[in-house]
Amino acid sequence: MTSHIQLRSILEWHQLVGVDETITSKPVNRVSDLELQPPLDTPINLKSSVSVESPFAKSKTTSPDSRKKAELISKSSRDTLQSAPDIAASANSVEDLRIALENFDGCTLKKTATNLVFVDGNDSAEILFIGEGPGAEEDRRGRPFVGPSGILLEKMLASIGLTRSNVLISNTVFWRPPGNRTPTPQEIIACLPFVERLVEIVKPKILVPLGGAAAKSLLGETQGIGRLRGRWFEFKTPNLLCPVISTPMFHPAYLLRTSTQKRAAWNDLRLVRKKLDEMQLDAPA
Ligand code: URA
Repeated sequence: MTSHIQLRSILEWHQLVGVDETITSKPVNRVSDLELQPPLDTPINLKSSVSVESPFAKSKTTSPDSRKKAELISKSSRDTLQSAPDIAASANSVEDLRIALENFDGCTLKKTATNLVFVDGNDSAEILFIGEGPGAEEDRRGRPFVGPSGILLEKMLASIGLTRSNVLISNTVFWRPPGNRTPTPQEIIACLPFVERLVEIVKPKILVPLGGAAAKSLLGETQGIGRLRGRWFEFKTPNLLCPVISTPMFHPAYLLRTSTQKRAAWNDLRLVRKKLDEMQLDAPA
């Protein structure tokens, strides 16, 4: 019989690996084949200078059989990664991109998530906010920023005269990282072609990465968000005729924990408002 102490250890283990809610009465093992995850032997550049170490170094104890299987899976997953830019490039609308993502199996987060969480708001918005990754509430409802961070984001938008219906909101990854952990570089790389294509399709006037993970992956910067916020950068892809200007901000989840940074966030919001106003003035009548 399982002792009280064992049950407690099991619960503690679940908490540690990010199991924070019950979805069905019976357990479903959706990660059973995750241990055969591919070694990404080639370091990949995340936009520019962030190089990624392979987290799947070959173990000396792996049997020839499982190594062969892992190599096969490795190849098919590398193919998926390589085809992600082609799949994303073939989408010509936000809806096409959503359908492409529904059929895309190149990001391992999909295996543990309940729903795809892609975009919310207005497809023809002038401003696009990119967060880090969906949380529990977003995963349940299939919409970005509908949990506590979303409530604060809406207040932040309102403070500069914006609402969800005149901005577009998305994330660097489109499935919830278990336990709300930060997405890994591999997960971000898998989704990056779709984020880039989203910017190419929407062509916003301003791109706002929310938090360090989004700022680093979109802008190819290595500094922390504290040094990146309050400044303007250019977001470029080969398919964008002109770069999109971009200013990173603190993530609302961070602001919920660190109220001393709200003043800085307010300054960043005013920076965005000022730029939007200047651009509207500059636009031909
Ligand atoms: N945090 C994010 O980064 N994205 C969401 O969609 C929700 C919370």
